[in-house]
Amino acid sequence: MDKASKIYVAGHTGLLGSALLKLLKLEGYLKIVTRNHAELDLTRQEMVEAFFKTEQPEYVFLCAGLTGGIIANKTYPATFLHANIAIQDNVFEASLKYNVRNLVFYGSSCAYPKNCSQPIKEEYLLTGEIEQTSEAYAIAKIAGIIACRSSNRQYKANRFIALIPNTMYGPNDNFDTNSSHVIPALIRKFHEAKVKKENNVILWGSGNPRREFIYSEDVADASVFAMKNAERLQNTHYNIGTGIDCTIKELAKIIAEIVGFEGKIEWDITKPDGASRKLLDSSGFLNLGWKPSTALIEGLRHTYKYFMNQY
Ligand SMILES: NC(=O)c1ccc[n+]([C@@H]2O[C@H](COP(=O)([O-])OP(=O)(O)OC[C@H]3O[C@@H](n4cnc5c(N)ncnc54)[C@H](OP(=O)(O)O)[C@@H]3O)[C@@H](O)[C@H]2O)c1
Repeated sequence: MDKASKIYVAGHTGLLGSALLKLLKLEGYLKIVTRNHAELDLTRQEMVEAFFKTEQPEYVFLCAGLTGGIIANKTYPATFLHANIAIQDNVFEASLKYNVRNLVFYGSSCAYPKNCSQPIKEEYLLTGEIEQTSEAYAIAKIAGIIACRSSNRQYKANRFIALIPNTMYGPNDNFDTNSSHVIPALIRKFHEAKVKKENNVILWGSGNPRREFIYSEDVADASVFAMKNAERLQNTHYNIGTGIDCTIKELAKIIAEIVGFEGKIEWDITKPDGASRKLLDSSGFLNLGWKPSTALIEGLRHTYKYFMNQY
């Protein structure tokens, strides 16, 4: 991938796509192509085909997808399955047809079995039962990971790269109460409690589960690194994490401090905790020479600043 290469960032308005667009522009890439959802619905095969035929991108970052938290996944499983399968299938097919050199696809840590050993190694994929609440989304992601691997094997070229970032956060995240992930949800909750001068905030579960979070700009950096090093990659998926996790209690305390919420944090233990730990073993990717550069506290400060400017 050089500065004059034609690069399509699919889903450039989202959390990861916007971080990638920012990075590619910063690094001086000159021919970046984007379309927003209204201009190009990637679930529509004929639209995707026409777009690739006209634009002929050489490199594709497939950041478009339907994402959401537990409530959204539980309420709309069929939509999550259909939209993600359709988007990836249409983009994969058009990329093959119009000779895209390399494409980066993003899986998800929920594709791994719910009770696997920690840290989670790449080879644990398809070795056990997956978490029920995000089953439909996870199956779509598994299909995408296997599609990349199968396509590379069948066409004898390591063209499609599958990365599995752990939970991302950062500017342009979704702060909607019903569909957000834990970090934007906590930022919003603590911020609103502070503004309303509330004495306490009640959070779901025990706060004891451990989670690994990665700043979106670090995942963008890992994606560009993967594209530049495509020839060194094996035909498999790669975990992308920081290697550091924390409890939800620790996370809540840090966010409350950044936001300036001084009340009490209470835990509603009648609500489910989910898996006790979800830490990725990212040593395969780290050994290639990439490393994340944003500490959690620093990334959270940037994210809160974005939230304050935006809302
Ligand atoms: N967030 C995470 O923690 C995480 C972790 C691991 C993997 N991933 C994966 O990484 C990728 C990027 O995630 P993200 O968090 O950046 O997602 P996001 O913030 O939800 O952004 C998704 C992007 O896709 C676009 N999009 C959705 N449906 C579309 C369609 N039918 N046609 C065209 N564009 C469409 C969205 O546009 P609109 O908003 O206009 O619909 C948005 O620009 C996804 O594949 C996700 O599954 C995410």
